Amino acid sequence: MSIPKENLSLKKFNTFGIDVAAREIIYLRELNQLDKISNLKDCLIIGGGSNILLTKDIDKQVIINKTKGICTVNEDEFHIELAVASGEDWHKFVMYCIQKGYGGIENMSLIPGSVGAAPMQNIGAYGREIKDVLTYVNAVNLNTKKIERFTNKACEFGYRDSIFKKSAKGKYFIADIGIRLTKKDHQINTSYGDIENWLYLNQIKTPTIQDVSNAVIAIRKNKLPNPAELGNSGSFFKNPVISASHYKNLLLKFPEIKSYPVNDEEVKVPAGWLIESLGWKGKRVGNTGAHNKQALVLVNYGNAMGYEVQQLSEDIKKSVWETYQIKLETEVNII
Ligand code: EPU
Repeated sequence: MSIPKENLSLKKFNTFGIDVAAREIIYLRELNQLDKISNLKDCLIIGGGSNILLTKDIDKQVIINKTKGICTVNEDEFHIELAVASGEDWHKFVMYCIQKGYGGIENMSLIPGSVGAAPMQNIGAYGREIKDVLTYVNAVNLNTKKIERFTNKACEFGYRDSIFKKSAKGKYFIADIGIRLTKKDHQINTSYGDIENWLYLNQIKTPTIQDVSNAVIAIRKNKLPNPAELGNSGSFFKNPVISASHYKNLLLKFPEIKSYPVNDEEVKVPAGWLIESLGWKGKRVGNTGAHNKQALVLVNYGNAMGYEVQQLSEDIKKSVWETYQIKLETEVNII
């Protein structure tokens, strides 16, 4: 396929900074623009472009979600429920809430991407996930063009997972979401070691939501590459969950292997540790590589093609499988 690249490059619409072309780019500012698109089901919808790896030119109409708006749905003395348009930037929304004194999402500061993409993969960081505060998702059915409401339960949230990655995949355009936050008596969560350390170093004994956000921003800036400087999509793989017996066997051979408890039968193993242990951390392969401070993040050193990053991810998966018999699952959507 040969597509003229002028003005159709998707480079600035994906945080990996991969330069592929679209057949057509549509900027969606109002939801009712969707009514005019005839083959909605065949379009590629991009929010913040922070969880995709584009491996080829996109011979489709690409919709860039620019819808904006935050409004109050419900409010009492203790809580506020906000409706947020899917095209809003997630981190800007977090900053807006902190400035207003609304608590519940401060641990998810600085996660790149749009509000609409957040429930798709149940974004999470430092002990909080969006499922903890989300009340509903309003989504346009791409077949009927009608809005359907998914309650929190109907979203079937799991670790980096939701119905929008399973049975509803490719069938909906997320229009807006409801988020319920605290106005006072915030449930501050500082249980994550890195946050505790930062607060200790900064001599903060009773942290506010602003302090937690500052801690998370500092930790993320220190560990994770800024997509504006070095193309990436955050964690490329999920942290794998394996059986307790598999883990026990691995411990005999690799006594330093790390884990987090899941339930009586399963444990979660940090993929970053597995990848680092095999020598990939900081290793550069052509235009791509695993980041030198967080091996779970694959980066674009400049002109990487999507397939190069995909090949690196396959090589990493293979080496993790051969040594640990653990299957790494990709978190990023490969298109
Ligand atoms: N580790 C290493 N080497 C590395 C990276 C990590 O050994 O290169 C080990 C460390 O021992 C550390 C453990 O892995 O104790 C966990 O590392 P970290 O705290 O950096 O978190 P993670 O499990 O690698 C997950 C999320 C991140 C989220 C952080 C903090 C996934 C796939 N990733 O990473 O989310 O910010 O926890 O909560 O669950 C994302 O999804 O894009 C993302 C960045």
